[in-house]
Amino acid sequence: MKVLIVFSHPNPNSFNGAVLKVVNETLKSNNHEIKVKDLYRTNWDPRLTVGDLEKLYSGTVPEDIKKEQETVEWADMVVFIYPIWWFEQPAMLKGWIDRVFSHGFAYRQTDQGMVEGLLKGKKAVVITTSGANEENMRQNGILDAIMTCMVNGTLGFCGFQDIVYKNLYSVPSVSDSERQEMLEEVKNILEGIGGKLRQETAAVPGRG
Ligand SMILES: Cc1cc2nc3c(=O)[nH]c(=O)nc-3n(C[C@H](O)[C@H](O)[C@H](O)COP(=O)(O)O)c2cc1C
Repeated sequence: MKVLIVFSHPNPNSFNGAVLKVVNETLKSNNHEIKVKDLYRTNWDPRLTVGDLEKLYSGTVPEDIKKEQETVEWADMVVFIYPIWWFEQPAMLKGWIDRVFSHGFAYRQTDQGMVEGLLKGKKAVVITTSGANEENMRQNGILDAIMTCMVNGTLGFCGFQDIVYKNLYSVPSVSDSERQEMLEEVKNILEGIGGKLRQETAAVPGRG
């Protein structure tokens, strides 16, 4: 399977960086093909500009957006790794979505005025980290916000299927061994997905 990992944290030595490492290693050891988009290290420009909009409306895709879209197109699965900032994703990732999941690429309007997701058949895994614990996240609505905005409102809207969402709680306040357990959990999630997909691809001659 071809996997694009979109990583959005300014510090590669952060806990999010450790999550990226585990995801990368787990997928590699299951023989998946991987591309990593590290938004901060590649100086991704998150601003959807008037120039972008004019080009997109006239049917031309700006070069940096086109490159990202080609990688999304290439991928069977996209893994998003990011910390929760102010109840949602870092602006860097928000801007990647604003620019890359453009009309005509990620979704379109049908003749009947309905919206059709164009990234149908792609799988997604969303891994977030939070300062808050699970009880707070449920009470204050962060989990609902992520399900509404990222999982359903963005990925579901664009046609992604089999979306797995996992949050790692209380990251700054738990012990090192608890953080290690969380990384194990991430590994298990990715192993499970890898296994499922290996079976599916095995059924199709010439793939895998
Ligand atoms: C700008 C900013 C906003 C944050 N907003 C939230 C928030 O809304 N909810 C929350 O639980 N944690 C919030 N946090 C805490 C981070 O989610 C937490 O420190 C991070 O997930 C830990 O992972 P890291 O060590 O890889 O950065 C925020 C942190 C920053 C820097």
